[in-house]
Amino acid sequence: MTTVGQQDKTEQEAKNPLVEGLERLPVHPTNLVIFGATGDLSKRKLLPALYNLAHEGALPERFNLIGVSRSDMPHGDFRGMAKEAIEKFSRRKPDPKVLEELLNEAKYIPGSFDDDSVYTTLTDTLEEFDEAAGHPFNRIFYLSTAPMFFPVIVGALGRHKLEDTKDDNEVRVVIEKPFGTNLEEAQDLNEQVLDVLDESQAYRIDHYLGKETVQNMLAFRFANGLFEPIWNRNFIDNVQITAAEDIGIGSRAGYYDSAGALRDLVQNHMLQLLTLLCMEPPVTFSADDVRDEKVKVLHAVIKPTPETVDRFAVPAQYGPGVDAGEDVGGYLQEDDVPEDSTTETFAALRLEVDNWRWAGVPIYLRTGKRLARKVTEIAVTLKPVPHLAFQEDGSVGVKPNQIILTMQPNEGVTITLGAKIPGSRMRIRPVNMEFLYGTAFLSESPEAYERLIMDAMRGDATLFTRNDEVEAQWHICDPIVKNWEAQSGPIAQYESGSQGPEEADELLEEGSHWRAI
Ligand code: BG6
Repeated sequence: MTTVGQQDKTEQEAKNPLVEGLERLPVHPTNLVIFGATGDLSKRKLLPALYNLAHEGALPERFNLIGVSRSDMPHGDFRGMAKEAIEKFSRRKPDPKVLEELLNEAKYIPGSFDDDSVYTTLTDTLEEFDEAAGHPFNRIFYLSTAPMFFPVIVGALGRHKLEDTKDDNEVRVVIEKPFGTNLEEAQDLNEQVLDVLDESQAYRIDHYLGKETVQNMLAFRFANGLFEPIWNRNFIDNVQITAAEDIGIGSRAGYYDSAGALRDLVQNHMLQLLTLLCMEPPVTFSADDVRDEKVKVLHAVIKPTPETVDRFAVPAQYGPGVDAGEDVGGYLQEDDVPEDSTTETFAALRLEVDNWRWAGVPIYLRTGKRLARKVTEIAVTLKPVPHLAFQEDGSVGVKPNQIILTMQPNEGVTITLGAKIPGSRMRIRPVNMEFLYGTAFLSESPEAYERLIMDAMRGDATLFTRNDEVEAQWHICDPIVKNWEAQSGPIAQYESGSQGPEEADELLEEGSHWRAI
């Protein structure tokens, strides 16, 4: 059994009273089982997140890690692989002592996820840990596998009674994305999951909700008297939500070509941003109160129909261009992408939340790979002032105020204001009023996965997606996916490294522009 203690704070953390790190609440002893433990997500995100939790002393005092994957290797090799992954991907340079404490008793079970003997070995391993400690640990099963294995693993956990809670221990199952590739599949998967688990045990993860700056939206909206009175159709003209990436699909063609941008980012991350932006204040911040409000927003979104999809959604694919100063090929030249693929690597949508607060306000969503730079932001544009009394060219530079919530890369909030240009004439131009996370708190935010793994261990599902929420997200995306899949013509192209396809401009009101990426 591993006992992981808090390490010395870094010099910066020690000096800065605003750095709180992750709260060190007592957490019930936990066995964490990662299915797909040798996969990419585990190496890049999960194992480094566990290390950083260990570094902060935020892991339960008694904690065991068990990896399950297909590759055949002894426990020692798994520990070596995990160590290497942490050294390569952790946001902190690992301290050898913490690393050793975290991994020295980690176990590894090789095998196929549909092989019952894997679950027999797993049961024995978990029971050994419980017996050694003299009481049952909580169990977290983290499904970081290809989606086809989600029902297979959940079914096997049920058959082997691994989801059963004994005495005072809890069992929770974290399920990665994508949760289904369409509405029907998501409904089937929910049914299969809820056949075995109670909804309170199912933790469907969307890592955007673990980002500090995404949660800051709730603080921004509900902890300030300044914004809420104007947060409605009377004052807001339109909203643009952008999740642009400069990278291509890398080596993920196998997954990405059957997913596309809409399933990969819009159905989950972008709709989550939309719900947090548009939801009513919850009565409390309990998991169900928050999720009830989010689901209401999703229900209020006007669903595209086969007749309206073309007016409300634009797909496109990156062609050759430039990435980080180098000439690059397009999507069709990527390894393992079929040469006639029409999968979209860019999607832009115009949505409307048809309720009292938002009716008539266009909400534009835009995401894409290989765009000019990586930026995730929400830009809320207010209505223009009703009358300008300035003379001559005084009004020329007046622009509607914007509130820009930036999640990546320079996390913070910017408000644009019209200000007088110094001088004898009354001329106006927009200036920025800025709050930057890095400057205000002098700290690096924890990775989303750190927060979410911690919440799963503590049993707080607020930042996880409920069954009705994931289905409501599919109700919005399904008609678009189906329509795009049925189209046989060529897909619009945009140059790699550019601002995206011109076709996306057609979604905007006349005279409006997409914000520069
Ligand atoms: C993942 C998508 O969910 O989110 C990736 O599958 C995408 O395609 C990634 O690159 C973006 O996440 P982040 O945190 O880098 O914005």
